[in-house]
Amino acid sequence: MADEQAPPAGPDLAQGIALSDFTAETLLGHVGDQDVLLVRSGPEIFAIDAHCSHYHGPLAEGLVVGEGIRCPWHHACFDLRTGEAARAPALTPLAVWRVEHEGDRILVRQKQELPKPRGKGPVEAPGRIVIVGGGAAGFAAAEMLRRQEFGGSIVLLSDDSAPPVDRPNLSKDYLAGSAPEDWLPLRPDSFYAEAGIDLRLNSNVTSIDISARNVIIAGGGSIPYDRLLLATGAEPVRLPIPGADQPHVHTLRSLADCRAIIDSVNGGRRAGATADGARAWARNGGFRARIA
Ligand SMILES: Cc1cc2nc3c(=O)[nH]c(=O)nc-3n(C[C@H](O)[C@H](O)[C@H](O)COP(=O)(O)OP(=O)(O)OC[C@H]3O[C@@H](n4cnc5c(N)ncnc54)[C@H](O)[C@@H]3O)c2cc1C
Ligand code: FES
Repeated sequence: MADEQAPPAGPDLAQGIALSDFTAETLLGHVGDQDVLLVRSGPEIFAIDAHCSHYHGPLAEGLVVGEGIRCPWHHACFDLRTGEAARAPALTPLAVWRVEHEGDRILVRQKQELPKPRGKGPVEAPGRIVIVGGGAAGFAAAEMLRRQEFGGSIVLLSDDSAPPVDRPNLSKDYLAGSAPEDWLPLRPDSFYAEAGIDLRLNSNVTSIDISARNVIIAGGGSIPYDRLLLATGAEPVRLPIPGADQPHVHTLRSLADCRAIIDSVNGGRRAGATADGARAWARNGGFRARIA
């Protein structure tokens, strides 16, 4: 999530542009030192931050679909009217800007206030929500509940030892050594307490007592819920061949897996890889790859 210090792009939208100069679907400009994208959607013109809140992808190269724009890099989608991150992997909304029309000119001078969250209110909302799975899906659900002003308790259970991380980065910049580890957490550790999200790591849910509405944790203990969200993702497929249980054979799913691979390579330049995307991770990791 590096900040790019490039000069502001395109025309100064605070000075305005002629409507006749805006012929394409999007136009990249700036307001002060901030890049702002004009987007045409049907009869309306929207203005939104020009870079994706995931990894700064250039939305000017994205796809406009209805009142949304999709990032060209990993396909996050943002609502042009509200700036809301409507689809993963982006989690943070973008600022939307007020578009003014003066004669045949379009001007953008200031950000719009984001609309108030559409809270369901205390009558409809359950009191206790338990989410099983500390990946992107579980995290996004918890974060969105709070953003929508859900006031009940949220317990986020993960059998991982690390707080929710940006898993795709584990096979890319972080593995390659070009991103520091502090890029990986989806939010800083302090976020969970501040947001009133009870994140419990190393908590392996072994069963659910549906009639009593409890989840059961390995080693004992149960947690009651009014609503339960299962966001347990998927397990890597392990090779069913002799030698696959050797200590230098790894799967790559968690931060711990990634650290183990980096540690075990320890200056070596050869790695074998199987799986979709294996060539990419080997290349990103800077290894000479022979793909099985
Ligand atoms: C190395 C790597 C690179 C990737 N790169 C890309 C990419 O470039 N682009 C892309 O679109 N996608 C990519 N993906 C896929 C993407 O990360 C997944 O689609 C995404 O993580 C799915 O999120 P999730 O929350 O549904 O599941 P997960 O991320 O799998 O999270 C599920 C969580 O639930 C926890 N859990 C499971 N069972 C239990 C239990 N019984 N009790 C408690 N906790 C439990 C797990 O520990 C885990 O933390 C990549 C995945 C990996 C591993
Ligand atoms: S940078 Fe936009 S989705 Fe990743």
